[in-house]
Amino acid sequence: MKKPFFEDNDIRLFNDDILNCKSVQKESIDLIITSPPYTLDIKYSSFDDKMSYETYLQFSEDWLTKVYNLSKEDGRMCLNIPLDKNKGGQQSVYADIATIAKKIGWNYHSTIIWNEQNISRRTAWGSWMSASAPYVIAPVEVIVILYKKVWKKKNKGESDITREEFMEWTNGVWNFSGESKKRIGHPAPFPVELPKRCIKLFSYVGDTILDPFVGSGSTLIACKEANRKGIGVEIDEKYCLLAKERII
Ligand SMILES: C[S@@+](CC[C@H](N)C(=O)[O-])C[C@H]1O[C@@H](n2cnc3c(N)ncnc32)[C@H](O)[C@@H]1O
Repeated sequence: MKKPFFEDNDIRLFNDDILNCKSVQKESIDLIITSPPYTLDIKYSSFDDKMSYETYLQFSEDWLTKVYNLSKEDGRMCLNIPLDKNKGGQQSVYADIATIAKKIGWNYHSTIIWNEQNISRRTAWGSWMSASAPYVIAPVEVIVILYKKVWKKKNKGESDITREEFMEWTNGVWNFSGESKKRIGHPAPFPVELPKRCIKLFSYVGDTILDPFVGSGSTLIACKEANRKGIGVEIDEKYCLLAKERII
């Protein structure tokens, strides 16, 4: 077992590759919240985000299998991925990953559409004002909700969601802005609002949350704020340092 890169009360961060990580106990996780690499040629500090789509799908199968084994029987996953991809050939990322997850054994529950609002101004039209070959681009991402064996939680616990939050967040279209890469210092952060909502809607106070691709640490910040036990895994030491700085 590897020593944590950083530990603070209920928060643990491991500088490791999730595929080889032995630091998380099997069947110990209540909720996984994550945004994996997207194969969009994002300039990470060390991870190569430009693999072929076939290699990307194999990588997705490998890590989804790994975290399936770490999840409790009533464990859940909130998986933030793009709906599709246009760069380097059109692909139905959401449909393909949901299919792979179900093949592994994950059960599908629902999908939240995240309307990022401030997604960058688009420039690719394909054939401008012509039916020749136009592009249609949906400026949204999705959060796929999956569970391992049973959806209803086995044990009773304390929920800390307010009436207003419950009513607003059970509507499957979420409207809030994306996070600034520049402000955070990471090429693909999600705002703390995203894990915060997932945590309060899908886990009890004191539950154990895992983010296998924790990047700048947004999920761990939300765990700390909501009194959950947080475990983050990040392959890149530079981002581990950034996450640590954001958490303390
Ligand atoms: C989309 S980013 C996650 C960003 C994060 N949600 C945040 O708010 O900062 C994906 C992260 O996964 C990391 N990563 C890529 N491959 C990994 C692996 N095999 N194990 C652990 N982390 C990995 C990358 O370095 C990158 O920081």
